[in-house]
Amino acid sequence: MVYKINNLQEYQREYAASVENPEAFWAKQAERFQWKKKWDCVLDWNFSEPDVKWFFGGKLNITENCLDRHLLNKGDKIAFYWEPNDSAEARRSITYRELHTEVCKFSNVLKSLGVKKGERICIYMPMIPEVVVAVLACARVGAIHSVVFAGFSASSLSDRINDAKADLVITSDGSFRGNKTIAIKDIVDEALENSPGVKNVVVYKRTSQPVTMKPGRDLWWNELIEKASPEHEAEPVESEDPLFILYTSGSTGKPKGVVHTTAGYMVFAEYSFTNVFQCNEDSIYWSTADIGWITGHSYIVYGPLLAGVTSVLFEGIPTYPNPGRFWDVVDKYRVTHFYTAPTAIRALMACGLEYVTPYKLDSLQVLGSVGEPINEEAWHWYDDHVGKNKCPIVDTWWQTETGGILISPLAGITKTKPSYATLPLPGVQPVIVDSEGNELKGNNVEGNLCIKFPWPSIIRTTYGDHERCRQTYFSTYKNLYFTGDGCRRDEDGYYRILGRVDDVINVSGHRMGTAEVENAINEDETVIESAVVGFPHDIKGQGIYAFVICEDPELDHETVRQSVLATVTRIIGPIAKPDKIQVVRGLPKTRSGKIMRRILRKVAEGDVSNLGDISTLLDPGVVEEIKKGALVPLKG
Ligand code: WT7
Repeated sequence: MVYKINNLQEYQREYAASVENPEAFWAKQAERFQWKKKWDCVLDWNFSEPDVKWFFGGKLNITENCLDRHLLNKGDKIAFYWEPNDSAEARRSITYRELHTEVCKFSNVLKSLGVKKGERICIYMPMIPEVVVAVLACARVGAIHSVVFAGFSASSLSDRINDAKADLVITSDGSFRGNKTIAIKDIVDEALENSPGVKNVVVYKRTSQPVTMKPGRDLWWNELIEKASPEHEAEPVESEDPLFILYTSGSTGKPKGVVHTTAGYMVFAEYSFTNVFQCNEDSIYWSTADIGWITGHSYIVYGPLLAGVTSVLFEGIPTYPNPGRFWDVVDKYRVTHFYTAPTAIRALMACGLEYVTPYKLDSLQVLGSVGEPINEEAWHWYDDHVGKNKCPIVDTWWQTETGGILISPLAGITKTKPSYATLPLPGVQPVIVDSEGNELKGNNVEGNLCIKFPWPSIIRTTYGDHERCRQTYFSTYKNLYFTGDGCRRDEDGYYRILGRVDDVINVSGHRMGTAEVENAINEDETVIESAVVGFPHDIKGQGIYAFVICEDPELDHETVRQSVLATVTRIIGPIAKPDKIQVVRGLPKTRSGKIMRRILRKVAEGDVSNLGDISTLLDPGVVEEIKKGALVPLKG
């Protein structure tokens, strides 16, 4: 068993070994980490409850593996170069030793606030080095972090705080994003009106804008950390103790808290990072994701730090001050490994080559893509203009629930093919099934993607509701983890992800449940009922098309639209704003009251040539009316 795969034969050998004896394979991988106590049992699992335990009986602390383990040989190596939103502001860098010290100090702050092992801490922060410090300090004291993307509204934040029963919130006064300054602390204050369980709020001073500090509850990070000791012994936790909760959307209305535990997540985050990206000692790695998503957890914080790599941490957005920003940052830090989302590539592609050609981009060696299917045009643009046809593109398929990359080329090793995630990582056993759950063996098959054997970072539960985890992922097909994605395996055995087969849409790489958006729209005072579907969008991948029935049918449509947009922004956040809002008098419902979404999807796609059987509709006339008012040109 090797740690880092070097060529295709080695990949094949490792893959075969991982399937033949998964326990021996992963035990070998786990051995290079620091354990406070070695495990008793490598794997115990069943997918029916589900109950999966990796490295059971072991004790460790993941931050010792991210930080302490590197101090001897890499203490002075840069862990992060931090690039602020405004490039004129002083940049910062932080070595492994400095990061270790900051994390120890903040761990002591958490302890002084009475934080106990297993307690949940909500983090709502911009992309600054302190967000990494906050995440790692939680892990160091054995608390469970729940990071909420700082673009979510007060109401979304409050829901997540309450679901996780978090006692503490870590935030900042404000944040800089492009030419906007966002009042983060005000959003937290509003959220906490509905989250009375929160005892303390720690506020990092980032923008120095005025904020209200509630006496007895709110504390300044900057003051607390001054008095904190830089010595902190990491708390030993059990292998299966939760490391974090991360909320994600599903087909039902309420986002669920995906729970990842410590040891298995650690081993897989590092193993997948190392093998997919193939960084070396001198690499400068940059993932443009936000810490609020799983990519930020696994491939900004944990994976790169476990591997001891130098990364760039970026506070800003791709288009500020202009659409050349990414490439400017690549040249400035001589980035070698660059990881972003197809939606960003398409947005920059649309801005024109004049924002790319001024940059050298000659440091780049590997390009990555994540979050949604990458279309061939975007793939080629990325390959031609960013990678100059000399950088392998790793199209990495995975999910919040999988904790790490499951299907992807290994950079420079697997032959790539545009829009294919290619082959499973060692330890990952994908199967494609038909709607009855029969495995479709062989190549040239298409169906639903499942995984038939546990990998170390598989979801363990959904916080506070284990039954929901079972229902969502382990009940559709017996003894299989169901991903929710459609997939094709081609003649070479390569996997191509076709997109979601459930009521989840992927807008600019952000996952959203149509029911969640509908619930938000229905809160609007002008609306009685709504139905939301995705439609193909040139830049976002999928856009949001909402059909709404109004309280007052005479109300001017623009008024309805503005009102709905404001409501969705208030309830979820700007990322869930519908692109198109069509006012309708009725929705196509069956006699049992179910909305026939396939009809709405066809209308939103602009192709009504084959609507299928509509005879079971309660009122087929509704369809004609909807077609007439469609906001896109219709074919057929
Ligand atoms: C869903 C998971 C994984 C981190 C970011 C998104 C889609 C993800 C790819 C890819 C095609 C992809 C899937 C998946 N997806 N990566 N390379 N090719 N589709 O995590 O928010 O949990 O969303 O994103 O549909 O199920 P997430």
